[in-house]
Amino acid sequence: MNDIELQRLLEQMTLEEKVAQLLQLAPAFYEGANSAGQITGPLEGMGITEETVSQTGSVLGLGGAEEAITIQEAHMRRNRLSIPLITMADVIHGYRTIFPVPLAIGCSWDMELARRSASIAAKEAAVAGIHVTFSPMADLTRDPRWGRVMESTGEDPWLNSEYARAFVRGYQGTGVADEPYKIAACIKHFAAYGAAEGGRDYNTVDMSEWMRREYYMPSYKAALDEGCEMVMTAFNTVDGIPASGNRRLMRDLLREEWGFDGVLISDWGAVKEMIPHGVAEDEKECARKAIEAGVDIEMMSPCYPHHLQELVESGEVDIRLVDEAVLRILKLKRKLGLFEKPHRYADPAAERDILLSEEHLAAAHEAALKSCVLLKNEGGALPLAKGAKVALIGPFALSDDLLGPWSCMGVREEAVTLAEGIRAVAGESLVTAAGCGMEQMTDEELAAMLDAARSADVVVLALGEASEMSGEAGCRADIRLPCRQLELVKRVCELGKKTVAVLFNGRPLDLHGVLDEADAVLEAWYPGTKGGAAVAELLYGEANPSGRLTMSFPQSVGQVPVYYNAFNTGRPQSSPDAPVRYESQYLDIPNAPMLPFGYGLSYSDFRYGDASLSADSIGANGKLTLTVRVTNAGDRAGEETVQLYVRDIAGETVRPLRELKAFEKATLEAGASKEITFGIKEEMLRYHHSDLQYKSDPGKFEVMVGPNSRDVQTLSFKLNG
Ligand code: BGC
Repeated sequence: MNDIELQRLLEQMTLEEKVAQLLQLAPAFYEGANSAGQITGPLEGMGITEETVSQTGSVLGLGGAEEAITIQEAHMRRNRLSIPLITMADVIHGYRTIFPVPLAIGCSWDMELARRSASIAAKEAAVAGIHVTFSPMADLTRDPRWGRVMESTGEDPWLNSEYARAFVRGYQGTGVADEPYKIAACIKHFAAYGAAEGGRDYNTVDMSEWMRREYYMPSYKAALDEGCEMVMTAFNTVDGIPASGNRRLMRDLLREEWGFDGVLISDWGAVKEMIPHGVAEDEKECARKAIEAGVDIEMMSPCYPHHLQELVESGEVDIRLVDEAVLRILKLKRKLGLFEKPHRYADPAAERDILLSEEHLAAAHEAALKSCVLLKNEGGALPLAKGAKVALIGPFALSDDLLGPWSCMGVREEAVTLAEGIRAVAGESLVTAAGCGMEQMTDEELAAMLDAARSADVVVLALGEASEMSGEAGCRADIRLPCRQLELVKRVCELGKKTVAVLFNGRPLDLHGVLDEADAVLEAWYPGTKGGAAVAELLYGEANPSGRLTMSFPQSVGQVPVYYNAFNTGRPQSSPDAPVRYESQYLDIPNAPMLPFGYGLSYSDFRYGDASLSADSIGANGKLTLTVRVTNAGDRAGEETVQLYVRDIAGETVRPLRELKAFEKATLEAGASKEITFGIKEEMLRYHHSDLQYKSDPGKFEVMVGPNSRDVQTLSFKLNG
């Protein structure tokens, strides 16, 4: 269908049909549409007629290929102009084969792994009848109280941008010639949703435009530069106006300045939420504000279907706004090939073959291996010796709650538990497993766990947060482990056995009471379908941990937000060990987080030689090279992530103490070493000035290299004017 035909189709549509294209409904509206092939909506309470349902443009989430085909067929029979439905879903970290949560994938520092996980998710989703995923979430996150940090890749704008690109490439198949199963990606939540005040979901976001552009916007923009088809609005306000009604954000920035001409969808119910936000008196005002701001699809609230027609007929809303929105949706349908093939890849037979295939499970397994972060390993507590008697205890010992929030069609029972994983590696007879509740623990459970610990050589404590303790609306003001779990750690450590803690959780935690008690700590996040198997292999050294944190772990919740790329202030702390009054610091805790961005240990022992620079200055078109030799002085092969940071000593605006600019992975056999080089160019030194221009300033810079954002060597150079 060419542009003229598409335009002709638009002209044939009644205003009512156009408006219905702009509505997205959940599958509940189509329930019962199976055998008789009839759509049986509408859902009570929303006040939508069956007629509207039959004209609707898109549906959110489906239960698989058969349902997708049935609903599409019924829809096509009823839709006067044969405009197919487009199906969208939250395919966030896998469809049925569940990968580690995005924050965990972030810790792999592996873009190919991220791309591959998205590509597999896309393949599974496509054969199950999904056309668009509401992913990736590119919100920058600094506040671990916010439950949705598990959906992001962390606190660094550059790394988040790289991941956003990788996920989009994976979903959409960009740059991969023979990738038959593509789905469209939708970057979210535009904009700055990750900065909700107090880490409380849906709460106010307010920051300067400068801050937004410097830190929060780059990852959305990167996704769009990669060709991401859709954008979703955020629930929060931006400069006092909810994103879904924010013309400056959507029309001026997204559409005009960035040139985005794809489909913009509201978040769930966000258009109508302008009423409680206090910027609209009624649904009608919501509809007007959203369409004026450029929202094409209203997800799950009825302001458009109830009022847009009337707004156009009364002349309050220009019909061109509606036409533009409809055209964008029709173009996406055309691009996805839905006019020729309304079922697209939906195929129950392929679904049976592809979902949870060996290949997909192997990829999820590899992703889990690469996402875990070794936080502590004192006295070589890990890896565990194969012949040792192990007590596996704690709430996650036997639990299958390993998929994490937003696990789409993932099935918990299909997850490999830690007990299963450890038994497979260590052998049945050597493992005693005993579990307990996540927040509650009976005296009997405690006694059984302590008994198991007493009779073992080593204790593996499987701790964490139940998945519903994070994710959307899963915010916590106290980010320690539940107190019963801390008590368990204490009781176990009193036994004097070698104790290893494995954490399953969705956010950086305050790890007092764990990190200081256990001999070793492995952060496993929510590792997905193959989680228990991967964690067991890491514990026994069949694989070597290589993950690095992409969010700082705070000393306490009182330090939040704490992030590595912060500004120096006019009174930086001069001596952390002997605090001086009237400097920027706390009286009761250090300024530094408990564990910094970029941190993670390995069973190998990586040593850095002295770094050197090829010159001490650089011109506008020049390039400096930093060289550093990294040696694996340990006795097993491993992977190091060598990180490069830059600091602009004096900018026009203040500049962060360090900013990640590049990283390089070095896979080194025991005893091997490798020279790592980084190119430094003027374009890496640019930033937003107070007038929002993006450019560099001549002057002094520092460049830092090391295994994380804290333990670096620092060199200096000048950027010539
Ligand atoms: C979430 C979005 C999600 C949408 C659809 C909302 O509540 O904020 O991230 O895509 O629901 O499920």
